Amino acid sequence: MRTVYVNGQYVPENEATVSIFDRAFLFADAVYEVTSVLDGKLIDFHGHMTRLKRSLGELGINFDVDTDALLAIHRELIAKNDLTEGMIYLQVSRGAAADRDFMFPSSDVKPGLVLFTQSKSLIKSAAAERGLKIASFADQRWRRCDIKTVQLLYSSMVKNEAVKKGADDAWLVLDGKVTEGSSNNAYIVDENNTIITRHLSNDILHGITRKAILQCAAELDLKVEERAFTIAEAQKAQEAFITSASSFVYPVVEIDGVAISDGKPGPIAKRLREIYIDANRAAAI
Ligand code: PDD
Repeated sequence: MRTVYVNGQYVPENEATVSIFDRAFLFADAVYEVTSVLDGKLIDFHGHMTRLKRSLGELGINFDVDTDALLAIHRELIAKNDLTEGMIYLQVSRGAAADRDFMFPSSDVKPGLVLFTQSKSLIKSAAAERGLKIASFADQRWRRCDIKTVQLLYSSMVKNEAVKKGADDAWLVLDGKVTEGSSNNAYIVDENNTIITRHLSNDILHGITRKAILQCAAELDLKVEERAFTIAEAQKAQEAFITSASSFVYPVVEIDGVAISDGKPGPIAKRLREIYIDANRAAAI
């Protein structure tokens, strides 16, 4: 059984409790981060903490991000759970008010902090080897996708719909252009080996893995264009792939039933995955 962290305490997962008045539970009034773990060490921990601060600031959640203290909790959970490979989920909620109320509670209500580990084989991955089939859906999320809130129902719905259609995951389309995947950033590679991914805005999450992958691309002297693209353009691309903390890089081999190139994982996605893993493994803390 896992040991998890809830509001100052390490407890067995079946003893962890939060208030039913917690605003995460009633209003999805909470933000989160997922940090991957390789060899028992954290990948890009400081990048995740920087984004956490930004998400909290955008929502006015009064939680002081003490990076050292949070690093200690992450490490303690890794140790207590013997985690060598997987992820740590961290969630900060605005806290539990005295009652259900649309107004934010007064500043004396303490934010809630929850962390837990999830074990997953990140390096050896069937999805990385075979590639993903994608189905597209209208992007009907709220328009602050840059804030990493726990309001994930639409993303969860489209992923389920994608699987029902025989695909592995969903890409979301806004005004005719792809925004991102259900829980990852989306990329295509054109015939000149240029990597194309949507520019940063409120329409996508500013992926920590996205930033690192674009650096890897620069090291490989690959050109990058940060712009929106259509599903039709993606279906004609040389390659397509996704990135996230829990997948690193997964190739995409099919979009809405159309094979990408020969329908096999592409060499650029494969190379980016390798150099991302090498560089980030070496820099893990
Ligand atoms: N998802 N876009 C969305 C909508 C996401 O939910 C995520 C991450 C990403 C990739 O961001 P990063 O590279 O920082 O993980 C993009 C996490 C992993 C999740 O919800 O489990």
